[in-house]
Amino acid sequence: MANEHEKEAAARESLRFIQDGQVVGIGSGSTVAHFIRLLGDRVKNGLCIRGIPTSDHSGERAVSLGIPLTTLDECPEIDVTVDGADEVDPQLRLIKGGGGALLREKIVASASKQLVIIADSTKRVPVLGKFGLPVEVIKFARAVVQKKIEALGARVALRRNGDKPYLTDENNYILDCHFGEIADLDWLARQLSEMPGVVEHGLFIGMASIVLMAEGSEVFELRRGK
Ligand code: 5RP
Repeated sequence: MANEHEKEAAARESLRFIQDGQVVGIGSGSTVAHFIRLLGDRVKNGLCIRGIPTSDHSGERAVSLGIPLTTLDECPEIDVTVDGADEVDPQLRLIKGGGGALLREKIVASASKQLVIIADSTKRVPVLGKFGLPVEVIKFARAVVQKKIEALGARVALRRNGDKPYLTDENNYILDCHFGEIADLDWLARQLSEMPGVVEHGLFIGMASIVLMAEGSEVFELRRGK
């Protein structure tokens, strides 16, 4: 429950980055669920924004709360995106994709002038990698990519949904790759990006502008150094 309070506190704090008239990227996950609910309240009270969701689930939730949506085709430039993270390091590098939405999340983040990450204190780590790094792969390439990632030293598991492989919104598989602490994030990101069949990986490097990190009853605003 303490975590849930922290998640809500971080989400509440992120509302001050949202202005009338903006196009707002809407992330995915349980922390963002608080953000969507609070944003819905603001919209009911007259805030005029258009949202671009990073998952079908977030889109459905937003629509159910009366938040108007648009698309990247209509609005390829997003003013601000609010999203969660699985791990955050001191340089505001992230692991994302625990909820399986990393591909659309990274696309939306890349189209955003500002990416605001909301997180509870369990997400703060000195070095990324304890959380299994999600890698989205096309089904055809699963075995080949898995072997290559294992050769880099990771224990790799195909994400499952009951007795079937988990499918992303783009109908791909996810490999959860357990590296332990990752010494060289840039090198690993390059290796993964260069593997044919990898659609996207969950390392978000140099993307977060601000992290709102909740710790107990406080929310700290962390900004990336230049
Ligand atoms: C989904 C994500 C989420 O932002 C991440 O998994 C954090 O989720 P939660 O807020 O539920 O802890 O990257 O793909």
